[in-house]
Amino acid sequence: MSPHLFVRRRRGLDRLKLLVSCGLVSAVALAALAIPVRGEAPIRFIDSAKVWVLSGGNASYVLGVNERNELQSVYWGKRIWRDQDWTVVKSSPQWDGVDPSTNTTPEEYPGWGGLRFFEPCLKATLAGGVRDVVLEYAAHDIRGDELSVTMKDIGGGLAVELRYRIYPNGVLSKSSVIRNASNAVVTIESAQSGAWQLPAAEGYHLSYLAGRWGEETLYTREPIHRGSKVIESRRGSTSNQFNPWFAIDGPEEAGEEHGNVWFGALGWSGSWKIAVEQTPHRDLRITGGYNDFDFSYPLKPGESLSTPPFYAGFTDHGFGEASRLMHRFQLEHILPRPSAGHPRPVLYNSWEATGFAVDEPGQTALARKAAEIGVERFVMDDGWFGARDSSLAGLGDWVPNPKKFPHGLKPLIDNVKSLGMDFGLWVEPEMVNSDSDLYRAHPDWVLSFPGRPRSEARNQLVLNLSREDVKEYVLASLDKLVSENEIAFLKWDLNRNFSEPGWQEAPPAEQKTIWVRHVNNYYDVIDRLRARHPKLEIESCASGGGRVDLGVLTRTEEVWPSDNTDAFDRLSIQYGYSHAYTPKTMMAWVTDVPSMDQRSEPLEYRFLVAMMGSLGIGSNLTKWNPEEVQVASRMVALYKRIRGTVQEGQLYRLLAPVDGSLSANEYVSQNGKQAVLFAFLHAQQYGRLAPSIHLRGLAETAVYRVGVVEGKIAEKQETFSGAYLMNHGLTPSLKGEFDAAAVVLERLD
Ligand code: DGJ
Repeated sequence: MSPHLFVRRRRGLDRLKLLVSCGLVSAVALAALAIPVRGEAPIRFIDSAKVWVLSGGNASYVLGVNERNELQSVYWGKRIWRDQDWTVVKSSPQWDGVDPSTNTTPEEYPGWGGLRFFEPCLKATLAGGVRDVVLEYAAHDIRGDELSVTMKDIGGGLAVELRYRIYPNGVLSKSSVIRNASNAVVTIESAQSGAWQLPAAEGYHLSYLAGRWGEETLYTREPIHRGSKVIESRRGSTSNQFNPWFAIDGPEEAGEEHGNVWFGALGWSGSWKIAVEQTPHRDLRITGGYNDFDFSYPLKPGESLSTPPFYAGFTDHGFGEASRLMHRFQLEHILPRPSAGHPRPVLYNSWEATGFAVDEPGQTALARKAAEIGVERFVMDDGWFGARDSSLAGLGDWVPNPKKFPHGLKPLIDNVKSLGMDFGLWVEPEMVNSDSDLYRAHPDWVLSFPGRPRSEARNQLVLNLSREDVKEYVLASLDKLVSENEIAFLKWDLNRNFSEPGWQEAPPAEQKTIWVRHVNNYYDVIDRLRARHPKLEIESCASGGGRVDLGVLTRTEEVWPSDNTDAFDRLSIQYGYSHAYTPKTMMAWVTDVPSMDQRSEPLEYRFLVAMMGSLGIGSNLTKWNPEEVQVASRMVALYKRIRGTVQEGQLYRLLAPVDGSLSANEYVSQNGKQAVLFAFLHAQQYGRLAPSIHLRGLAETAVYRVGVVEGKIAEKQETFSGAYLMNHGLTPSLKGEFDAAAVVLERLD
């Protein structure tokens, strides 16, 4: 950038900062406005230094080629505007024979070869049994916001294309394409998407999302010490146990709105691995991609293997801003189009009300009640097909059960449509019950080894989707279903993990490719189905939140985060979820009490918890009394008024559910005209007053009209300045147990 351009930009920035301090422009907007500096390309190659500078939002990412021709990470952090600051890249100094320079140099994509002993990005057996991969820079190509760097193994038999993309708000993606450039088979044993390197320091902390069935995405944070911490799935799908997201703060500890946070997430719905490794030299690297456990992927000459995108970003404004960057990135670049631009409809789902006992009259009765309270999409869950009266039978036979639906699904769908809703249906296409026509016809279609047990989980087996015939069967069944019925939405479930992962018809050397092939074929089925039915929307569900990741979210509008619908438990699940994923994708149902915890929260509380994402209802509406129907109608109407703000706005986590008896979230609309505060009291303690809640993300000088929806704040004024709301705060008057408030603020201009 030329010096005069910089001066102009600095002046502009200073003016903007002034506006920020006056509350006329938010800090977030400032970061966003910093994006397009006139004439500055998002990716620049500095020839003299052999360095690439990738800039977006408030972040820069710099990599270069060192004197050994290795590709080396140079910098990742707050934006550095001046290209002349970068000079020729040097590898790390030689320490001793035990830790040579190759072992301490922060390579972008290290192979397992030469004197390298840390987590590699690529491990392979090359022609002639050579197990040594040493990658050197060969060429590069810049196209707008995309950079491709070609690396070659020193033996010439393997080429790796590293793909980078920098998005306008500074989120980056990395992936690789590994190509066999030899004339013999090459077997890939570990294929990572890439490694992120942080400066050597003590004091880093790792945040990640851990849990189990019924308790997914619990936010966890712990100090990083020397050694490796691995979060992963070996289960074939993303998993309910760990989610492929990380955040690292430090060396000084970050908070919700301050401090350095590097964060990232994998776009892959199969077995994955993220290794966070602090070396004895205090360097920190985060390597992620396919799980290398039971991994082996042979490539014939000329064949290649692509790794999934590993997205990441940086902010110096804490975990809150890290999430907001991720949310915006997902809304603008990840979620499928064109539905990404539309509000999520209010949904009803039958599962908790009727279980497997679905039939035409019962579902029609529920649909009538759902329409009455303002539901826009009616979804019939499990139980409608084959011999499906319980989890014991029917999976694989995707035809309506003739006793439950004697005239097919049409009469029910017609009823639902005449009530002004669209219709959605539950499916679990990758699975089969051994008691099904499909399994009786094709017992060879499941993952299994000859002469070994076929372990059932939830009475089901995993179809071997790696087989082309199985994939085509799955696609054809879904296509028929959607073509013959007016289905707007599929809830695509997956209720068990992979076991005995054999592919009996494939040569042994190919069998381990199922970990990659199954997922790619699952993606392919969705992509082709959606291409044939462009209006079809999909929810990703896997016994709750077992398939929530940025791979599936490029293909499905929403996910089901957990089978646990207890509203109080849900606060913690949603809190963790919001660190990685936008609330728009988070389906959340209001269900009946006592909940699965035997807890009975009031209906308003249950609604307000669910309204912090994409609102759904799963209660048995036919049992609701008129008062409950009236509360629900009021809450659904409120949700429709604020859903643009919740689904598309900026989320501020004001008080975490883990930190005390009060929790609160605030959402500010994209245009700053509406803000919504949700507050939840867990349990009153005698004499303890709830603290004031300080809002964020408002304009200090603007005035807001308060619509106190549940009358649960102490203040009686009708309007407030942004300065008051953020600095003095609002005083909740919540009492007893499970009390909740929603406060809607409309900006007066
Ligand atoms: C598991 C899902 O998470 C539930 O919501 C429900 O769809 C059941 N499967 C149906 O079998």
